[in-house]
Amino acid sequence: GRVCLAYSGGLDTSTILRWCINEGYEVVAFCANVGQEEDWEAVEKKALALGAERMVIQDLQKEFVDEIVFRAIQCNAIFEDRYLLGTSLARPIIARAQVRVAKQYNCDILSHGCTGKGNDQVRFELAWKALAPGVKVLAPWRIPEFIQKFQGRNDLLAYAKEQGIPVSSTPKAPWSMDENLVHCSYEAGILEKPDLTPPKELWKMTVDPLDAPDKPYHFTIHFEKGIPTKIETEDGKVVTESLALFKLLNKIGHDNGVGRVDLVENRFIGLKSRGCYDTPGLTIARLAHLDLEGLVLDGKVRELRDQFVSLSWSRQLYNGMYFSPEREFVENSIIFSQENVNGLVRMMVYKGAAYVVGRSSETSNLYSEEDASMDSLETFSPQDATGFININAIRLQKFGEAKMAAGKP
Ligand code: ARG
Ligand code: SIN
Repeated sequence: GRVCLAYSGGLDTSTILRWCINEGYEVVAFCANVGQEEDWEAVEKKALALGAERMVIQDLQKEFVDEIVFRAIQCNAIFEDRYLLGTSLARPIIARAQVRVAKQYNCDILSHGCTGKGNDQVRFELAWKALAPGVKVLAPWRIPEFIQKFQGRNDLLAYAKEQGIPVSSTPKAPWSMDENLVHCSYEAGILEKPDLTPPKELWKMTVDPLDAPDKPYHFTIHFEKGIPTKIETEDGKVVTESLALFKLLNKIGHDNGVGRVDLVENRFIGLKSRGCYDTPGLTIARLAHLDLEGLVLDGKVRELRDQFVSLSWSRQLYNGMYFSPEREFVENSIIFSQENVNGLVRMMVYKGAAYVVGRSSETSNLYSEEDASMDSLETFSPQDATGFININAIRLQKFGEAKMAAGKP
């Protein structure tokens, strides 16, 4: 058979590539550029040297931003109140491209180097099955003979030596990383101790907030239908193209140390896992978007959206259910909710924090300075509030009376 392997150039996937070849498979290696820092030529050279038939590298950054990152902003996506889903957001884009490549080069098997304990195996395989029903999956880290042969890093290194697999001369960080445009994630290794503070040099996408400039930095984000369309900075940069715009937010966040989180999450598989994430641009964009919604979004729509829609979309992405009817259903409701989310938010970043310092919109009539003003009595009279309170109190009075009758305070 011919395998299309998600290949990164690292020790794990290099071992898998060579192992597949030794098992008699032909291998087409695939790597998606979703914004990670990488020496692409070296990746290609290595895959070919290991015996891959070909190495396919595709730049999916624009697709990633337009289709999923901006949707996450519209939705205020977040998992367990803290994780902005950086890895989860990229997986559907990578998995879909891999299916396309597999079809193009007649691969009947799809493969990845995810462990058997994580979320990523679920995300890749659910996406593959949805997009290429009936496809065969090769998940080496779930094959008993493979696990038996490679019990630890030393086994991988020994195999690399025996097979002539080049091993990077820079020592591997003692944790696992997954990097894309949105974030870099750090998990496993020494981070498995939840009380171990991540070393200063771990964070790739943000400077240490303590080392960030002592001067605040100001900029403005414009939104149309909940999507960022323009950034203007205090030093005169104006960016409108989606990918460049998102990269500028990343740079602003990076330089000012915005977007670090360190948490313990509940994986889909049911295990708890400690993860550190730096997510500069999305942290800023999400805050700005939430703020603009405060000005323009109907309060009841917002409540329903927060209780159901945002949670559902975030959960669907986390669990690898992107190519599902429920994601399409929920996503249409997000898009519908964003009709009036137009305007601008003025922002400031300073030493690890992002702040909103003003907002405006011309397309919504919901906020009115006049209605909100303490002095004006135009739209309703204060006497109306007496009835509003009395009627809302009917149930509460009965509840209070019952408590008193039962002798409870
Ligand atoms: N725990 C995060 C998630 O499930 C990050 C996963 C990182 N993946 C990786 N292959 N290192 O989305
Ligand atoms: C892995 O297990 O391969 C990475 C972590 C995860 O997918 O949750």
